[in-house]
Amino acid sequence: MSAYLDWSDEYATGIQAIDGEHQTLFMMVNALHGAMENDLGNEELAGLFRRLTLYVDSHFAREERLMRAAAYEGFDGHVRQHRALTKTLRRLATEFEADPENFATEDLLDFLKNWLSQHVLKTDMDYVPCLQAATE
Ligand SMILES: [Fe+2]
Repeated sequence: MSAYLDWSDEYATGIQAIDGEHQTLFMMVNALHGAMENDLGNEELAGLFRRLTLYVDSHFAREERLMRAAAYEGFDGHVRQHRALTKTLRRLATEFEADPENFATEDLLDFLKNWLSQHVLKTDMDYVPCLQAATE
């Protein structure tokens, strides 16, 4: 059975630490989707949402450390994308907590699915040659 957000080789950067964290992010989005599908309730959703947000923060911090260490030329643009997502997630978390009954969890999931898959496929892939060269 396929998951809501399926991992496949096309998402692999070849940088082990990053791929492991990306897979965890995919799993967390799938967990959130499962909780919604199975009507596990707002408390459960809020907890998963909060955990995902914290994990995104630590993952972005790690990527940013690696990019800075490699003096990646696309650092600023990449970080701008990270900050935009972080800001949106914070806003959505606040909205959810204020009025969970009227919160469109499905839209949040669609947004996360699209954002993550596009960011990994394009923006993250762009730093791969630079990061690999820096660790060789
Ligand atoms: Fe990134």
